[in-house]
Amino acid sequence: MDVTNLDAKWALVTGAGSGIGRALALAMARRGADLVICDLNPEWLAAARGEIEATGSRVIAAEVDVANREAMRAFAEEVHGLIPAVDLLVNNAGIGIAALFVDHPLEEWDRIVGINLMGVVHGCHFFVPHMIERAQGGHVVNISSMAGFTAVGNMTSYNATKFAVRGFSESLAGELSVHGIGVTAVCPGIINTPIVRNMTVYGPDPEESRRQATRTFTRRNYGPERLAEGILSAIQGDKIVAPITIEARLFWKLTRWTPGLVHWINRRASKRLAEETARAARP
Ligand SMILES: NC(=O)c1ccc[n+]([C@@H]2O[C@H](COP(=O)([O-])OP(=O)(O)OC[C@H]3O[C@@H](n4cnc5c(N)ncnc54)[C@H](O)[C@@H]3O)[C@@H](O)[C@H]2O)c1
Repeated sequence: MDVTNLDAKWALVTGAGSGIGRALALAMARRGADLVICDLNPEWLAAARGEIEATGSRVIAAEVDVANREAMRAFAEEVHGLIPAVDLLVNNAGIGIAALFVDHPLEEWDRIVGINLMGVVHGCHFFVPHMIERAQGGHVVNISSMAGFTAVGNMTSYNATKFAVRGFSESLAGELSVHGIGVTAVCPGIINTPIVRNMTVYGPDPEESRRQATRTFTRRNYGPERLAEGILSAIQGDKIVAPITIEARLFWKLTRWTPGLVHWINRRASKRLAEETARAARP
């Protein structure tokens, strides 16, 4: 899809209240798109709405939990009562959970699968049929992650959902190509957003783990605005899988060429984490 000029196009972004979703919604508005946005957090949603409207774009905003099937159905009905279909569908809303598998409550599995995987499925289920019916093409972007092809310890549920989003997207890309609709699984590396602050952490010292992760994200210093431009290029190039950032591109290659090396790195990192955890647990 040509995204150089998005005048008269409608783009939908889930989780648009913060980070990547907010930056991408704004980048698309600056290219002329009108926006449909949703988020769980009403204050962040209102702030994003204000920023987008300041560009001159129209906004339909709704407080919606992407994991809630009936809420997503009602949201889609509201949107399709106003416009026939969206041109760009961005399933971005997501959460992180850092936990060893043995510490990971099953209820938290339900929560992360509900948001990170079923949120993407709900977005596609309720909005794609209208794109097909309108028969004017379009593009679907599902935000996976570098963790959608590189597995690391302490992130079993995040890895599982992000691998699933990539697999789902690669499958869907074939089906929707018949209708002239592109699908991209975006796989970013480390992006400096509030995701770590918003993340649930299990372990002996969650605050310290969060502080360490925040430091890594801040030092990496790759902002969501820069990622948003990368996502727009991936749509323009009709990429099915788009690893963006140098670490994501590197690991995309390593997982194919030398999977043994990636597994070795994972084991080393897990060993270090176990040693740190044991040290922190000592009185
Ligand atoms: N930041 C990174 O390094 C990074 C890397 C790879 C992938 N991602 C993915 O990018 C996406 C966006 O992450 P981010 O870094 O911008 O995080 P963020 O925490 O800054 O933003 C996530 C947004 O999603 C919203 N949200 C969460 N649960 C929701 C729900 N159930 N329904 C509706 N909205 C909900 C939050 O309120 C928030 O506004 C996520 O899917 C994340 O997994 C992030």
